[in-house]
Amino acid sequence: MQRKDLLGLKGVSKSEIDEVLLTAAQMKKILQSGNKKTPHLQGRSVVTLFYENSTRTRVSFDLACKYLSASSSNVSASSSSVSKGETLLDTARTLDRMEVDLLVMRHPMGGAPHLMAKHVKAGVINAGDGMHEHPTQALLDIMTINERFGTLKGMKIAIAGDILHSRVARSNIYGMTAMGADVHIAAPQTMLPYGIEQLGAKVDKTIDEAVKGASVIMGLRIQKERQSSGIFPSIREYHKFFGIDEKRVALAEKNALIMHPGPVNRGAEISSMVMSADNCVIDEQVTNGVAVRMALLFMLTRANN
Ligand code: CP
Repeated sequence: MQRKDLLGLKGVSKSEIDEVLLTAAQMKKILQSGNKKTPHLQGRSVVTLFYENSTRTRVSFDLACKYLSASSSNVSASSSSVSKGETLLDTARTLDRMEVDLLVMRHPMGGAPHLMAKHVKAGVINAGDGMHEHPTQALLDIMTINERFGTLKGMKIAIAGDILHSRVARSNIYGMTAMGADVHIAAPQTMLPYGIEQLGAKVDKTIDEAVKGASVIMGLRIQKERQSSGIFPSIREYHKFFGIDEKRVALAEKNALIMHPGPVNRGAEISSMVMSADNCVIDEQVTNGVAVRMALLFMLTRANN
């Protein structure tokens, strides 16, 4: 991977994604071995900046740094000088002058990591920017599918739910179509952004249409924190028309993978029965999240050497 930053999957090629998958597979072996400490990032420094809440992304980057022996530090909006009025760019310049090699950033505004990347020497990894992209999540999703099927080429993948607010959906549409998948999306009209099909996905009218014959069904979180009121009548109604339940799973291919980036609103996006089924790989996604982030930290620091 010959790039300073990873800001999104738009424009990222299949060969770059394949390289991430290969490296992540090696990192997963380290992760699951008895000794999780390796010198891959010895002498390197990483700062994670989280201006929005996170469990999976933040902890997995944090552990990835520790497992690869990087010097790392975490900054959150509430504990940083942002609370005293410091601008994003001044924070970025300050960290850059500390000779940080990589900045990992989550921000509620789309484009914030892109702005930062233009002004710092350090490489920048987008850990989720507003409603725009979440590239590391999509890469771990692609890894999880690729591990099971060996390819995404020609595979029907259904993504259902709050597409409008979902950076995960955008990055997955870019990444999965680059890998040759046939991506179908379904959402209530109020959660479907205008022109989304231009990103490469097919828009189906119902979730039943989207999941029919699919090899993968991915639910998305209803992002209450980004929604205005009245976007859907009730959780019960949402689940009835757009929830992933046993009846809908039966329309997909036998043993279709059930995925969700988390955190899950149980009983809204996915029924508890489906979440406990053998083909539900939400836990594998979490493990692969650490492996993918280990791979990206290693690949980007090497590219920026
Ligand atoms: N999937 C995801 O980004 O989860 P977190 O918000 O917990 O990081």
